[in-house]
Amino acid sequence: MVTIGGDLAVGRIGFGAMQLTGTQVWGDYPDREAGIALLRGAVERGVTFIDTADVYGPHYNELLIRDALRPYPRDLVIATKGGFVRGGFDYASLDAVGNVQYLRQSAHMSARRLGVDHIDLYYLHSGRAKDAPFQDQIAALAELRQQGLIKHIGLSNITVEQFAIAVDIVEIAAVTAVYNVAVRIESALISAAEAHGAVFSPWHPITITDAGPEEASRIRAVLEPIAENHNATIAQVALAWQLQRSPAALPIPGTTNIRHLEENMKASTLKLTAREVTTITNLVPEQADPDADA
Ligand SMILES: NC(=O)c1ccc[n+]([C@@H]2O[C@H](COP(=O)([O-])OP(=O)(O)OC[C@H]3O[C@@H](n4cnc5c(N)ncnc54)[C@H](OP(=O)(O)O)[C@@H]3O)[C@@H](O)[C@H]2O)c1
Repeated sequence: MVTIGGDLAVGRIGFGAMQLTGTQVWGDYPDREAGIALLRGAVERGVTFIDTADVYGPHYNELLIRDALRPYPRDLVIATKGGFVRGGFDYASLDAVGNVQYLRQSAHMSARRLGVDHIDLYYLHSGRAKDAPFQDQIAALAELRQQGLIKHIGLSNITVEQFAIAVDIVEIAAVTAVYNVAVRIESALISAAEAHGAVFSPWHPITITDAGPEEASRIRAVLEPIAENHNATIAQVALAWQLQRSPAALPIPGTTNIRHLEENMKASTLKLTAREVTTITNLVPEQADPDADA
């Protein structure tokens, strides 16, 4: 288990719901009934943490979760995010908005779509908005927390410097960033989150292709024998590595396939040797922790 904000204990492998949308994360999931069945199947198989965002669909993903799972099981934690907007069918047209009125409205609308009176974990989806000072955006979330709409605050796609600014304003319970066997640009956020007692939720946690096809082949060649050793798949090895890499890790693999989901959940019992963990960690350089002693 891993605990979010000191009181929300969840299983170590969550579920990223983003894939349950239309092409390019735009629109409703084409087979809505299958999406509902998958979400229900996920919870039946022990998922207690689901990651979504208002911009997935937009809106459709939160609505699908509500239609599939409400009334929600008591132990289910749903994290959603606000502050990103999607301009069309092109994924690249995603942009960040920091206007505090917009953020307040977004949090209220997410709660309404999810059908909850408060949101367990609400992430600022990006630290890149230029239309409002970062501090003001965090202060707006702090105010929503004070008012009870948000239970815990998380930060998505922020820098280590922004993390430090935010924790001076309000308690931060979770950080989410891209991090996987192939991509480590955000690794300094892991130690920052650990030091603060926050959860670190890697997104794209099992993707090995983020650094290109050649890197993917090099990485696959290292993961395959480890997977064979444990009678496991490389996705399971990638997830087990995430869990052993940090006690704060809460990976959120996304899938539209219930067999893959079962496989991903089982990775929590896979124990890699210390040498295997080091071998995988050393595949790609990690960013130095700026606070570490030289
Ligand atoms: N904060 C952010 O800015 C941000 C950005 C991106 C994503 N996210 C979150 O992170 C979550 C995960 O990211 P993601 O879904 O893009 O990437 P991911 O979890 O790394 O990988 C998803 C892909 O892997 C496949 N897959 C899943 N389990 C598998 C298994 N056991 N064996 C083989 N293939 C498997 C899926 O296909 P199948 O459907 O066929 O299984 C899908 O194509 C998202 O759902 C979202 O909630 C957050």
